[in-house]
Amino acid sequence: MVKTVRVSAPGKIILSGEHAVVYGKPAILAAVNRRLFVSIKKSTKNEIIASESPELVEFARDFVLRALGKQKEKLKIKIFSEIPVGSGMGSSAALAVAMTAALFKFFNQPFNKEKINEIAYEIEKKQHGNPSGGDNTTSTYGGFLWYRKEAEFLKLFKPLDFDFEKLPRFVLINTGRPLETTGEMVTKVRKLYEKKPRQTEEIFQKIEKATKKLLVALREKNDGEIGEVIRENEQLLEKLGVVGNSAKRIIKEIEGVGGVAKVCGAGGVKEGSGIILGFHPRKNSLLEIAKERNLSAFEVKLGEEGVKIEKN
Ligand code: PMV
Repeated sequence: MVKTVRVSAPGKIILSGEHAVVYGKPAILAAVNRRLFVSIKKSTKNEIIASESPELVEFARDFVLRALGKQKEKLKIKIFSEIPVGSGMGSSAALAVAMTAALFKFFNQPFNKEKINEIAYEIEKKQHGNPSGGDNTTSTYGGFLWYRKEAEFLKLFKPLDFDFEKLPRFVLINTGRPLETTGEMVTKVRKLYEKKPRQTEEIFQKIEKATKKLLVALREKNDGEIGEVIRENEQLLEKLGVVGNSAKRIIKEIEGVGGVAKVCGAGGVKEGSGIILGFHPRKNSLLEIAKERNLSAFEVKLGEEGVKIEKN
């Protein structure tokens, strides 16, 4: 029988700390119940079956094959993903992690998460320029993470033992795929930082404070405080210039009915801003707002398992 290896890795959301995390501030991330699956088997020619971004898949494949010294191998690779692409849910990191892990498994390397995460980070770097590494780390280890990049060689993270069942029900609304890539949004913030270093640093410091407040609020299951921090966080992201007008309008509407929401991930300003994280004591209010605007919305489960080998 031909050997087939099947591996999956989760997408993620950033509860607090996006963009600031690129500048060494902490972030809280969570793996979500949307996964990307990679299956690999030997073939007579190289084949990729992927509904989106076959170039990205090819790039990740070649990167890992080089790292393993297996460039000459011919493989049939199939990708199936439940994660919306380019919308702040870490689809590219999940691809990098799942591809690395699948090739490790295929070539009988130890399933060493530290190594898998390191290679996935290098793939992310080639694609985004200067990622924090938070996305690939969350996709690798799963759960909830406190993450901080102190320096290129020192990326710290700590699993947080939050019980998802006891946390508020978050709703994700897709405001539309941003025209900009994550790398372009990170560069946009970099330019702001260069132009207005003092004000931008101040925003990052406020985001750090909000992230710390959220850490305690999540631990204490303080819904009021969780909502307050999400609202504050959104204002700070708007000041950083990463939220587009249509996302701003949706978020205002959510606030108007007593809820809160924030952009989740890199954001976008030219068109959509990707996923927003919404919270309302009656989650149906958020689902209705999304439905009226014809936007996809779904309840999300947080704290899911990281990269894993699937049965065939
Ligand atoms: O939109 P995403 O899923 O690529 O998340 C990006 C998060 C940033 O903080 C903007 C960049 C990073 O590398 O952490």
